Amino acid sequence: MAAPRGEFSSRFGFLMAASGSAVGLGNIWGFPTNAASNGGAAFLIAYLILAFALAYPALMAELIIGRYARSNAVTALRKISAGERSRAAAMLVGFIGIITVSLILSFYAIVSGWMIAFFFDPLARIINFDSASRWLTTDAVLRNSIFVVLFMLVTVIIIRAGVKDGIEKWASRLMPSLIIILILLIIYVLTLPGAMEGLRAYLVPDFSRIVEPALVVDAMGQAFFSLSLGVGTMLIYGSYISKEENLPTIGGLVALLDIGIAVLAGLLILPAMYVALANGVEIFDAEGGLIAGPGLIVSVLPALFNTMGSIGVFVALAFFLLMTIASLTSSISMLEVPVAYGVEHHGLERKNAAIIVGSIITIISLIVVFYFDPLFDMVVTFTTEVSQPLLGFSFCIFVAWIWRRNDILQEIKQGSPEAENGLFWKVWPFYVKYICPLAILVVYFQ
Ligand code: PFF
Repeated sequence: MAAPRGEFSSRFGFLMAASGSAVGLGNIWGFPTNAASNGGAAFLIAYLILAFALAYPALMAELIIGRYARSNAVTALRKISAGERSRAAAMLVGFIGIITVSLILSFYAIVSGWMIAFFFDPLARIINFDSASRWLTTDAVLRNSIFVVLFMLVTVIIIRAGVKDGIEKWASRLMPSLIIILILLIIYVLTLPGAMEGLRAYLVPDFSRIVEPALVVDAMGQAFFSLSLGVGTMLIYGSYISKEENLPTIGGLVALLDIGIAVLAGLLILPAMYVALANGVEIFDAEGGLIAGPGLIVSVLPALFNTMGSIGVFVALAFFLLMTIASLTSSISMLEVPVAYGVEHHGLERKNAAIIVGSIITIISLIVVFYFDPLFDMVVTFTTEVSQPLLGFSFCIFVAWIWRRNDILQEIKQGSPEAENGLFWKVWPFYVKYICPLAILVVYFQ
């Protein structure tokens, strides 16, 4: 017998949870560095266009299916499919989504573990515990394993508590804190010498780059990853939205929050890098590009904080707290996908499902920690560059080509009775039917 389903208790709760899923390492680390290496504001413009024109319609597809079906991705996609073959395809897409999101969580947990380790480092230094500080900041299998387990433990504890008492409660606390910390850090960093140079690198567009296929592919990948699309997170969060909510509006708010925080993060990361440069820290790699990979977070920024004197310790604490919060609100949304499936499909109790699925993902994560070099990049590339766009494509196909148009409209009209005459209903169906799948395929085969 299935347990009663959870529901977000307020619009604010949903907004914090969904934007918490969307806002993650992808916004604070991925977006600014992608922008820096792809022509600054030229990337920003391409990103804004793609995020609103492609990612927002795909986000709406997931939210609408989720709220209509009130269930996990596998069951939901089957529910909107009438034929034998489309139901089989629904099963397959739902499953691949669950596997993909679990694999994303397995690498996300490793990177998030680094963030926690670097958060503890300034604390160790405050109490002059130098050997601990060295241990925390030195890449090693043992350190990475411990922090993966710690991060997954916290994720499991939140998911065990359920939609309202776990996801909503924590997202509503953590997301406002994240925004406050981010703004305070931006204000501080912009007062430092070198920051304006960074702003220029970020905001002055190199328009010659805007038609480069690499830029467009990067911008679309970034938009899909950032809005957590294709893997059923937004679908499952959509399934917990009240029928009284206006879906196009709250979907739009989630997209705006996600994009807004990515743009804000650019105002922190790039100026910080140029402040680091002004303080004598190397910020360019051997090819002359800005250091964008893990080196940025685990060496360039910590080196910058070290040059700031005593305030640097607090800046480091705030920065890694920001990163940890961003990771956590995303990881809970990822774990919720397989957990909801286990609860609804296999009749597991939520608490047990969270522990079982969380343990399996932790083990996969530990395997990646142990065989980091061959596995890490492979898992990242497979999930984010292969699987996620194809799943996003499949969701659009299900909504626009398989699901009955009238059912979609009836679902949207709940909470927005005048939707039939609104702009959203005039534009969106055409978009998900033709533009989104085509654009995803074109960019994918680039
Ligand atoms: N949107 C998150 C980020 O930008 O970091 C990553 C993410 C979360 C991807 C949830 C997929 C997902 F299901």
